[in-house]
Amino acid sequence: MTELFDADWLALREPVDHRSRPAALLAPLTEWLRRQEPLQVLDLGSGRGSNLRYLAPRLPGRQHWWLLDHDAGLLAEAQPPAPQVEVTPLVRDLREPDGLQLDRVHLVTGSALLDLVSEDWLAALAAACAANNNAALFALNVDGHISWEPGDPGDAAVLAAFHEHHAGDKGFGPALGTRAGQRMCDLFAEQGYTVACMPSPWQLSTADRPLRQALSDGWVAAACEQRPDLAEHFAGWRRRCNARSGTLRVGHLDVLALPPER
Ligand SMILES: C[S@@+](CC[C@H](N)C(=O)[O-])C[C@H]1O[C@@H](n2cnc3c(N)ncnc32)[C@H](O)[C@@H]1O
Repeated sequence: MTELFDADWLALREPVDHRSRPAALLAPLTEWLRRQEPLQVLDLGSGRGSNLRYLAPRLPGRQHWWLLDHDAGLLAEAQPPAPQVEVTPLVRDLREPDGLQLDRVHLVTGSALLDLVSEDWLAALAAACAANNNAALFALNVDGHISWEPGDPGDAAVLAAFHEHHAGDKGFGPALGTRAGQRMCDLFAEQGYTVACMPSPWQLSTADRPLRQALSDGWVAAACEQRPDLAEHFAGWRRRCNARSGTLRVGHLDVLALPPER
């Protein structure tokens, strides 16, 4: 089974993703990438190009982005965000990492991807990046911390069922799920990389109601698949959740890994 993602969902989350990413990781990255012209970037699981639109304007000089995804329809929506940026779409299945051609790129990146992959896949990527001296930046890795202020007595049961579901196979073997960001830190450190990890939480107020509702719908759908016996309970929770005010916080981690040598 592979994961398909809805373009509307990716468009809904994009502005929140962009405002949540920590700018502090950009200075060490641009310092490491300096004098690479044109900069060659491989974006894994690009979808409709959110990571390209965030990162390209914040990186220096001429850039060539290779956008890889198995969904040609999503990739067709990813256009260069600036004249100095060239884009080449690659319709490929990431489960075959051998053909990534890391020798032609300086930076390997991705956003909202690593929770899908397995420990073995991520370890192989870290080793391949090390063999090719690639920098790596993976943003918006869910860390499992989800909380509402104020809370609801039903939150814990929905989240427990959702997290169990999230850890299933997403096509790459047992998914790292909420452990992905921390495992990226560990696996790249084992390759001798300097690793920096920063939180990138979504802080969602009632002004973000469409995204909040899409999240609660998705969490309940997953929770019901996992625990059909609790479906009625979860449906009640969703009704209360969609009427809630206050803040919803969804934790993520951004991880930058820089190789020991240029
Ligand atoms: C959560 S979306 C993130 C998309 C984009 N990076 C963003 O931040 O909006 C995960 C992306 O991974 C892609 N994907 C999932 N499994 C894949 C696979 N086996 N091969 C290639 N792409 C895959 C999906 O098509 C989707 O575009």
